Amino acid sequence: MEGIENIGATVVDPFFGYSYNSPSVIQHVDATMRAQALSARGGGALEDIMSLTPIGGRLFDGSGHKVTTASLREQKLRHDPITCITAYDYAAARLVDEAGVEMVLVGDSLAQTMLGYENTLSVTMDEMLHHVKAVRRGLKNALLIADMPYGSYHVDSKEAVVNATRFVKEGGAEVVKIEGGEKRADLIRHIIDAEIPVAGHIGLTPQSVNVMGGYKVQGKNLGGIEQLMRDAVALDSAGVACLYLEGIPREVAAMITAEVSTPTIGIGAGPECDGQVLVFHDILNLTFGPPAKFVRRYGDAAALITHAVQAFRADVRSHQYPSDEESYHLPKETKAGLDTVLERKRAMRR
Ligand code: KIV
Repeated sequence: MEGIENIGATVVDPFFGYSYNSPSVIQHVDATMRAQALSARGGGALEDIMSLTPIGGRLFDGSGHKVTTASLREQKLRHDPITCITAYDYAAARLVDEAGVEMVLVGDSLAQTMLGYENTLSVTMDEMLHHVKAVRRGLKNALLIADMPYGSYHVDSKEAVVNATRFVKEGGAEVVKIEGGEKRADLIRHIIDAEIPVAGHIGLTPQSVNVMGGYKVQGKNLGGIEQLMRDAVALDSAGVACLYLEGIPREVAAMITAEVSTPTIGIGAGPECDGQVLVFHDILNLTFGPPAKFVRRYGDAAALITHAVQAFRADVRSHQYPSDEESYHLPKETKAGLDTVLERKRAMRR
């Protein structure tokens, strides 16, 4: 790497003025380093050790591979790509969990996808909680991440911890997500101190839409790159369980991914991230608009739903729905009794 001095496993970059691990060091991490990395931050996930016998818990029922913050770190070290998708209700949660994704995010994007708001700023704690609870009921193995909505962590850290706690206690979330870089590092430490894992989210952070002046790719100039690197390093040091990278150049996401020990989950951040996240409604064509550059559509639920509803309406209007087979019938004896009563009534009227 031109202009970069290599000092053992650490690289000092004279341009950015701080040190980070070179990608080749990360790739060749040895077994000892792996064990250290896991026990240092991931809770020592090499073996599950509990001081209590788990009694009938969904999380430990042995029917699948429960994803944890520690297993995500192991995935990063194995270079095993992580898949995350948003879900906002019970049915979607069941489907994405059964499809095998590792992480399910109840994103504040539900403001637009589920509630029809113009942006994410209006959605409230109670609205988010309502959806987190529904998703919790549908998940078995995937890790559940709840997005902290705008205003729920911006006033002070006490209120932020109270709100994060609600997602865990009432919603069953395992991780909460917070937007923002180094300026959120202390707040993130407070929440982790309350035993709540935190996911960071940097780059294009939709809750800052008014400050950013629109939804713009971030980190496109040298100053922006430096800020993103500082943000990533600060959140990694604060101990985030993972780091969402949204709307940043591929090259910058690759540098961050190589630098930090936490798994990076990209959206519009190129293929070098440790994992990828997409919005459920985007991959299924349920957004009523042209998709962003990074969106890949894997299905057309809009067409499926429209055709199904049109066919239902046509059947209703042509009296083809419901058929006799789709109707309930009286038991034979009741029908015979009813016929007798009706016949008697008719005879009396004559
Ligand atoms: O709200 C959301 O869906 C998100 C993801 C796109 C990262 O924050």
